Amino acid sequence: MTTSPPAKTFTGWVAHDATNPLTYTSFTPKPFTPTDIEIRVTHCGICGTDVHTLRSGWGPTNYPCVVGHEIIGIVERIGTEVPTLRTSPASASIRVGDQVGIGAQSGACLRPECEACADGEESYCTRMTGTYNGRYPDKSKSYGGFAARWRGPAHFVFKIPDALPSAEAAPLLCGGVTVFAPLRKYGAGPGKTVGIIGIGGLGHLGVLFAKALGAERVVAISRSSSKKADAVEGLGADAFIATGEEEGWAKTHSRSIDILLSTVSGPGMPLGQYLRLLKRDGVFVQVGAPEDALPPLMAFSLIQKSVKVTGSNIGSPEDIRQMLALAAEKRVLPWIQKRPMEDVNAALKDMHDGKARYRYVLENKDGEAQAKL
Ligand SMILES: NC(=O)c1ccc[n+]([C@@H]2O[C@H](COP(=O)([O-])OP(=O)(O)OC[C@H]3O[C@@H](n4cnc5c(N)ncnc54)[C@H](OP(=O)(O)O)[C@@H]3O)[C@@H](O)[C@H]2O)c1
Ligand SMILES: [Zn+2]
Ligand SMILES: [Zn+2]
Repeated sequence: MTTSPPAKTFTGWVAHDATNPLTYTSFTPKPFTPTDIEIRVTHCGICGTDVHTLRSGWGPTNYPCVVGHEIIGIVERIGTEVPTLRTSPASASIRVGDQVGIGAQSGACLRPECEACADGEESYCTRMTGTYNGRYPDKSKSYGGFAARWRGPAHFVFKIPDALPSAEAAPLLCGGVTVFAPLRKYGAGPGKTVGIIGIGGLGHLGVLFAKALGAERVVAISRSSSKKADAVEGLGADAFIATGEEEGWAKTHSRSIDILLSTVSGPGMPLGQYLRLLKRDGVFVQVGAPEDALPPLMAFSLIQKSVKVTGSNIGSPEDIRQMLALAAEKRVLPWIQKRPMEDVNAALKDMHDGKARYRYVLENKDGEAQAKL
């Protein structure tokens, strides 16, 4: 148990602008409050969102910035009010020394008059705080997990089930819940055919979770056939479509899929052709967040089959708890490549170049010894 006063500064891998490499230096985290938890970071996944944010791809990032929102670590400090928080009953069971995780969200208003928060849909709260590049209500900046420590509201800190290895658990906190929440919401399960578009960090988890949820058929949809063996023989997809290689794919596979989940992160996706894959009343869910507009749509793409086009933002704290429980029960383990945290700049470049198979997880050496597995 830490008895020293909370530190005023942390150290981590800080971005100072959109182009230069991250440097290991100090930064000022939020002040520690009675509703916060502080951890020593042992692992942090690299998510596509880190890449967009570091290069100011969605608009200007508020530098200095520390990204990373697939965080695993060991609890070192628990605020005095955490055990009795009415808004966050699950936090009461968290103890110093526990292994916990933090995802892409670290704040919401949690007020009863907020429709999203009252419904347990915190990721749609208009006052949500992202784990990095955001601000807490006291105006302090939020900083992510490419660092030695993280601190923030207990409401967004989750116990990691013992059955999950530490490094593999990391990508579940953002990538895992981002695919799990819409797949479950739109009924991926027995009798349904699910298509996962883009087989990257989110997409490979999409195949795994669609299977874990009991979908009858899972189709992996990628630009080339280079990931086919991984998807079919490794991840368990039942079929594979290589959109850049298979002539007439949209016609061949038309009206075959109930739920399409698009994790595509780049420009120029063939949206109209993706929609041709849907059955009548099918749903297309966009979770990937390209930096430019989606392609235009012909009205008939929607009219002729009564399809729905929607999006989904990460998942709620309750979604995260249920996703972790399912992952532990069914052994949904992301495919990861561990990289020492000090290799973060090289790992980011490889992620940007599409080399991850399928998620890089940064490891903090000091933390490793005490983390489980
Ligand atoms: N909605 C949310 O709450 C949420 C949460 C987390 C992340 N995200 C976003 O989700 C996206 C994916 O993240 P990630 O971590 O999975 O990234 P990733 O590992 O880089 O995977 C993205 C995949 O998209 C496909 N792709 C990339 N550019 C494409 C293009 N121009 N056309 C068609 N397909 C393309 C690729 O799959 P193939 O090689 O198989 O074609 C790639 O593997 C990012 O934009 C990220 O910001 C959203
Ligand atoms: Zn993410
Ligand atoms: Zn709210």
